[in-house]
Amino acid sequence: MRLRDCHNFHDFRQLAKRRLPSPIFDYIDGAADDEVTHRRNTTSFERCDLVPNVLRGVQEVDMSVTVVGQKLAMPFYCSPTALQRLFHHRGEHAVAAAAAKYSTMFGVSSLGTVSLEELRKAYDIPQVYQFYYHKDRGLNHAMMKRAKDAGINVMMLTVDSITGGNRERDLRTGFSIPFRLTFGGMLQFAIKPAWAINYVTHERFKLPQLDEFVDMSGGPISIGKYFTEMLDPTLNWDNVAEMVQLWNGQFCLKGVMSVADAKRAVQIGCTGIVLSNHGGRQLDGSRSPFDQLSEIVDTVGDRIDVIIDGGIQRGTHVLKALSLGAKAVGLGRFYLYPLAAAGQPGVERALGIMRAEIERGMKLMGCTTIGQLSRENLRFR
Ligand SMILES: Cc1cc2nc3c(=O)[nH]c(=O)nc-3n(C[C@H](O)[C@H](O)[C@H](O)COP(=O)(O)O)c2cc1C
Repeated sequence: MRLRDCHNFHDFRQLAKRRLPSPIFDYIDGAADDEVTHRRNTTSFERCDLVPNVLRGVQEVDMSVTVVGQKLAMPFYCSPTALQRLFHHRGEHAVAAAAAKYSTMFGVSSLGTVSLEELRKAYDIPQVYQFYYHKDRGLNHAMMKRAKDAGINVMMLTVDSITGGNRERDLRTGFSIPFRLTFGGMLQFAIKPAWAINYVTHERFKLPQLDEFVDMSGGPISIGKYFTEMLDPTLNWDNVAEMVQLWNGQFCLKGVMSVADAKRAVQIGCTGIVLSNHGGRQLDGSRSPFDQLSEIVDTVGDRIDVIIDGGIQRGTHVLKALSLGAKAVGLGRFYLYPLAAAGQPGVERALGIMRAEIERGMKLMGCTTIGQLSRENLRFR
């Protein structure tokens, strides 16, 4: 199987599975508890049907959107994800370069493996910085200042990870940074030598957003431990209101799901919210963003940009979300498997496929601009 054999999400996933040592594949692929929410994120799109209009003259399609103050050529962006250089040695560079090719936005995680400054300098597209609120207030202030000084366009505070999700696949393999694997986990690395050679022959793995503040020489931190021990569980709306003031720019809350919280986000001056359950990796059993979307849009959609992520695998999923009132959608595993499968060419191919699917879908729906998509074209089963 090669990159040119990949035509959809499932093909890329398959290729990534072949290339990655299984503890790393499982870190991307896995989710919390029984992974029910993870599965439902995608299946929830199936309870909704598209009702097309025909004969509308659809030669030219404009799928650009403006969201959280950024003009994107396409209605989707690469959501911030951790540890990308573990998946492919070029990591965030590969993702950002592919996003730049398609003039969309990308996110850099607090747990990113390339510095936010290096990326800001290298790619001339809107860049999100994804923030976790740490117990160490000094670290929080320093990170915000770094992001501001670097020229980050959108601050995105993730609020669904106040403690670590129960990711049982990672418990089984012993996935942590640096690696401290179980015997079975180590065996999986031994049978994927190509990955291992790439890993050791390229720049040393680091977490440049946190390096100054986290001493990893004391032993591995598992991702769960990072969330549980370093992030501040006392985080509340007053703290976030203060951050919004301090940032004084585009500020997005990622991981909002309830109507009450969406209203609070508006009150404290956020400019965007991402309806998200972290790709099912945190609270299993929580609702899918698509199922929750219309309630939120109906309450706050005229006052704040509503974005969703989770389970998006097809152009038609994007069209359904936009028709319900989302301003844009975030992609996670959709670009991570291609990154693992083939680096930048993989991500470019995946984003190109998504763009083509959206364009085709819009034409078949009888729409030439995103603004023409509406609930009139949707029916729920
Ligand atoms: C491997 C992986 C790492 C992630 N790391 C982060 C992160 O560091 N910060 C964050 O806010 N979200 C993170 N996410 C969540 C994504 O930003 C996004 O919300 C989620 O992947 C969307 O679901 P999808 O993968 O089904 O598209 C991560 C997701 C995955 C799969």
